[in-house]
Amino acid sequence: EKGGYDYFMLKEIAEQPKAVADTLLGRIDAAGSLCLDELRISAAELREVDKVVIVACGTAFHAGLIAKYAIEHWTRIPCEVELASEFRYRDPILDSRSLVVAISQSGETMDTLMALRHAREQGSRVLAICNTNGSTIPRESDAVLYTHAGPEVAVASTKAFLTQLVACYLVALYLGQVRGTKWGDEIGAVIRDLSKISHEVERVLETMEPVRELARSLAGKNTVLFLGRHVGYPVALEGALKLKELAYMHAEGFAAGELKHGPIALIEEDLPVVVVVPSPRGRSVLHDKIVSNIQEIRARGARTIVIAEEGDETVVPYADHLIRIPATPTLLQPLVATVPLQVFACELATARGNEVDQPRNLAKSVTVE
Ligand code: M6R
Repeated sequence: EKGGYDYFMLKEIAEQPKAVADTLLGRIDAAGSLCLDELRISAAELREVDKVVIVACGTAFHAGLIAKYAIEHWTRIPCEVELASEFRYRDPILDSRSLVVAISQSGETMDTLMALRHAREQGSRVLAICNTNGSTIPRESDAVLYTHAGPEVAVASTKAFLTQLVACYLVALYLGQVRGTKWGDEIGAVIRDLSKISHEVERVLETMEPVRELARSLAGKNTVLFLGRHVGYPVALEGALKLKELAYMHAEGFAAGELKHGPIALIEEDLPVVVVVPSPRGRSVLHDKIVSNIQEIRARGARTIVIAEEGDETVVPYADHLIRIPATPTLLQPLVATVPLQVFACELATARGNEVDQPRNLAKSVTVE
C-alpha cells in the first residue's frame, strides 16, 4: 500500500506531480480558458462579490495566505485570510456579497466547519476547497471545488497542500476571468504556466538527494528558522510547520522584512536559516531585498540554506547551501518551493528516529474545536 516507499509521506510527496495535474484536469478548455461550471455559482453572482474571506487551519491556512496574493492581484477584490479557530469569535463583518472560501483536506475539521456555519448564518456564500468527496464541509457549503490529490494518509499534509494551491489559483483566475480585469492577458499566460507546472514539480523531485543529505547533517540541531517575502512568506511558515510536526524541532517562519524588527536577535553562529528567494525576474525589488537579508544574517554567523531559481547567480556568494528550483511566475513559485521543505522535514524526522507518518500528539483530521 505504500507503493515501495518506507512511509506514506514519501509516497505522497512523490505523487505530487500527478496530484497537481489531476486537479487541473478538465478545468482548462482547449482555448486556454477556465471552465468551472461545477462551482454552481453563476458568473453574475461572482461579479457581485465584493470581498473574499478564506478560513482554514494549519497547512490549509498557509494555502489560503498564498491565495490572498493571487486573488487580490488578479481580481482586485479585497481578500482576508483567517484561522478558522479565530474567525467566528471576533464577530466578522460578512454579508451576501462576501464569498467565504473554506479550505480543508479532510473536510471534517471542526474549526473550519464552525467558521463556515457562522458565515452562512450571516448570509454569505461558502465555497469549499476540499480533498474528500462527500465530507461534511463540502456538504454544508454552497459550492465545492474538489482537489484531486487522492487519499492522503500521512498526518503531515503534502500533496493536498499543492492541490489546494492549484485550486486557489483556479478560483482566483476564474474570478478574474468572469469579472474581466486589466490582467486579462496575464491570466491567459498564467493558465498556460499552470498547465505545465506539474512537470516542474517533477523536476524538483528529481534533485532532492542533496536536500536529504543536508537534512541528515542537521539532525543534532535544536532550531531552524525560515524566511520569505511575498508568497515566499507563507512557504516559510509551511516549511516551519512541517519541521515542528515531523522533527519536533523549534522551527519558525518569518517575513524577511520583519527580521530587523526583532527576530534577527535570534541569529547566532551556525544557526540554520532557510531562505525562500523570489524570482529575480518580474518583481525584482523583492529579490534584491531578500538578497540583502541573506547577507545580513550571514554576517551574523547564520548557516544560510537558500532556495533560489535556476540561473539566479546573485545568491551564490551568500549561500552555504543552495537548493535550486525551476523558474516560475512569482505567484506560482510556492508550488515548486514547498517541495524541498517537505523532503527536508521528512528526512530530518527520519534521521531523528521519529515516526514520520504518525507524529506524536497529532491526528489526521481534527474533529474537535
Ligand atoms: O483536513 P484539513 O485540511 O482541514 O486539516 C487542517 C490541518 O489540521 C492540517 O493541515 C494540519 O495542519 C496538517 N497536519 C499539516 O501538515
